[in-house]
Amino acid sequence: MSHTEIIGLTVNGEARVCEVARGASLLELLREHCGLLSPKNGCSPQGQCGCCTVIVADEGGGGGKALVSCAIPAAKFAGKSVLTLEGLSEAERDAFARSLVAAGGLQCGFCIPGIVMRARHLLDKQARPSRAEIEKSLAPHICRCTGYVKIVDAIELAARSLKDGEPLAALDLAARVGGSLPRYEGERFALGEHHFIDDLTRPDMLRGALLFSPHPRARVLSLDPRPALALPGVVAVLTARDVPGERFQGLIYRDWPLFVAEGEETRCVGDVLAAVAARDERTARRALELIAVEYEVLTPVTSPENALRPDAPRIHPKGNLLSTSVVRRGDVDAALASSAHVVEATFATQLIEHAFLEPESCLAAPREDGRLQVYSQGQGVFDDRRQIASFLGVEEDQVEVTLVSNGGAFGGKEDLSVQGQTALLALLTGRPVKLTLTRDESIRLHPKRHPVRMTYTVGCDAEGRLTAVRARMVGDKGAYASVGSKVLERAAGHACGPYRVPAVDVEARAVYTNNPPCGAMRGFGANQAAFGIEGALDMLAERVGIDGWEMRWRNVIEVGDQFGTGQVFEHGVGIKQTLLAVRDAYRGARYAGIACGIKNTGIGNGMPEYGYCTLAVEPDASLVIRTGFTEMGQGLFTVLIQMLCEELHRGGAAVDPRRVRVLVDTSRPLDCGMTTASRATVLAGNAVVDAARKLAADLRRHSLRELAGREYAGECAITYTTALGAPTDKPVTHFAYSFATQVVILDDGGKLQKVIAAHDVGRVINRQLVEGQIEGSVHMGLGYALTEELRLAGGVPVSTKMNALGLLRAHHMPEVEVITIEEPAPAGPYGAKGVGEIGLVPTAPAVAAALYSFDGVRRFSLPMKDSPAARAIR
Ligand code: FES
Repeated sequence: MSHTEIIGLTVNGEARVCEVARGASLLELLREHCGLLSPKNGCSPQGQCGCCTVIVADEGGGGGKALVSCAIPAAKFAGKSVLTLEGLSEAERDAFARSLVAAGGLQCGFCIPGIVMRARHLLDKQARPSRAEIEKSLAPHICRCTGYVKIVDAIELAARSLKDGEPLAALDLAARVGGSLPRYEGERFALGEHHFIDDLTRPDMLRGALLFSPHPRARVLSLDPRPALALPGVVAVLTARDVPGERFQGLIYRDWPLFVAEGEETRCVGDVLAAVAARDERTARRALELIAVEYEVLTPVTSPENALRPDAPRIHPKGNLLSTSVVRRGDVDAALASSAHVVEATFATQLIEHAFLEPESCLAAPREDGRLQVYSQGQGVFDDRRQIASFLGVEEDQVEVTLVSNGGAFGGKEDLSVQGQTALLALLTGRPVKLTLTRDESIRLHPKRHPVRMTYTVGCDAEGRLTAVRARMVGDKGAYASVGSKVLERAAGHACGPYRVPAVDVEARAVYTNNPPCGAMRGFGANQAAFGIEGALDMLAERVGIDGWEMRWRNVIEVGDQFGTGQVFEHGVGIKQTLLAVRDAYRGARYAGIACGIKNTGIGNGMPEYGYCTLAVEPDASLVIRTGFTEMGQGLFTVLIQMLCEELHRGGAAVDPRRVRVLVDTSRPLDCGMTTASRATVLAGNAVVDAARKLAADLRRHSLRELAGREYAGECAITYTTALGAPTDKPVTHFAYSFATQVVILDDGGKLQKVIAAHDVGRVINRQLVEGQIEGSVHMGLGYALTEELRLAGGVPVSTKMNALGLLRAHHMPEVEVITIEEPAPAGPYGAKGVGEIGLVPTAPAVAAALYSFDGVRRFSLPMKDSPAARAIR
């Protein structure tokens, strides 16, 4: 039987005859054979994210159905007519793109082309759908960034434009701080024209694939790549033996082998044993099945408790305890003994998958100058380069890493994923290689949010004023360190929340297991701690006889108070204003819960932090900002352009924001570390302000054209933060903190009705982006509270299907009201603080409190699947 089949169909009005691999999906046909890249591959062949949605009709017939193109064989579409975003009329493309940009309806943009096709299909059937109807129509789609609020706004706008001829409002191109400059290159993203890495191709390019261990813990007795190498079309099969440099990599500890070698033990099902390069992806994946591996299967260690037993197998040579973070001050025993009320409870949070929509992908290609070009979606191109070069055994200057703005990350793209193996395949074959993971592989490989078990003992006086906090936290680190020691350090630092606590005794341990690795994820330990401390506060409030608002009002910090770690806040504390902003809504609702949150901006804890950029004037008088920080949908590039324009405006000059580009690569010495900890707006922003002032000074004497070829360097340095345990008369542990209070309101059936999110974000740089970050975080926080969980059995994910993750869809979302408080942080440009993570810190405890107000059940574990709010989502 032939391995291929011939399929005749009409695509975007053009008759096509395509020869595809037997069993190939429609998505494969469209992307590989028709070169149509707007349908994105988020989960093929699951058909559960909606990114590949197209409209299919019978030949010559109108109407049609919106279908996910990855889940159905192309052969089923023979004789049909298929419409992709490329085939919409110019008027439709323009209306959808401009509506999405005007409404702020896209962040990373990966989900958007599929959503546009869904919206087109909906508007074909219904000229003026209601918000509820739009939300329902989006049920087959996942957006992990936006919380859907602004996507629905955009579809309403597009409907009015397309059906009523209503002109779209002019975009805010003033690019002033506090305005809403539209997302950088927003139209291109909306139309699927931004090329993510999997959309890139090169002449003579090979496709790569990785062999993963099926066992979380097993000894690799033998590993024979020869049968795979014999398969026609296979060019290389690499294993640990082929690594010329350092096989173990990692951001803090080098404990993560990019290949597990013969004779070694695997540590999780994300472990890679071999990498294949072949003429196409199907051949590469067929070759993986031919690699002969013999395992001695061993019993995995799947809980921190078992991992800490003296007789537990050692997952790493140094033992299973990665780190212990401690905060101690005051006499906690005495304070608890003299407290009017003391509560003790154990809280547990769950393993969470990032579920960014774009799976990991990398393209590496040898350059004519002998160096290796790597296209990465990572959260730090310089950390990528350092590790890739070390793995290849070459000097760093032999590797150039260029960021391709990614389709979401949320912390899950900090560690190397596939960059090392892809670079090695390209180096050893001498040809370009692209390697993209499936959704299943993505979930196995990248680090997750830590499950943390926390026992809190908290006391207060008769009026509810906190007297002491004791907390014992144990985080399941999974197989590799990643940044887990820092996550638990952050949990310890944030263990007291935004409250004044005279005596503190906190210990947080990160423990290796054979579960998937855990690392950075939005919130970075602060949301786990918030679930514990906020729950304890609610229990104490009940004992004292006051409501949740009053309990918090009596305890929240102000300037001059000590943070949990003991140092004193000297500025930038807006938590009281956030509480005041929600008081009436909280007290006016029948079933409501309230919680506060605090989240550091920056890595801090004594580490000096730098921001660098260059600002180049191009020959055509356009401008290019270069920085080391990553755009992953959060809007960094947009706010950098806004700050540049603001400074030039203040200097008496003006520049069209559409004539500014932002590039991220390793071509200049701009290493500022990872885009993490909500730090990029502050660090890159300060650097851009610095460079922009230099340009503004020159513009007083010269035109931009006269300055063509000039490059201005910008930088900032923040060196005064303190480590955990530093003396209390030193500065606080981080250069800025965001604060929030959220109220969750339930309806009379216990279902989510509304979330009010009041946030101290420092100075708002871009209002629309700030709202989008908070709405998206609330969406993630509601999932965290109620339904999200990556379930494991014996260290193996029970399911890697998108539908099994418990992500909220558009019609599950309650109304979200965002209130911003602007208490400036001196460290930030114009007083800005980070806003990327704080949005979900208080959400889960606020949901727990709302549920308690509804049914009187105090819940101590996430997700709260037994609740009426969760049952309504399933
Ligand atoms: Fe929807 Fe990123 S904008 S997933």
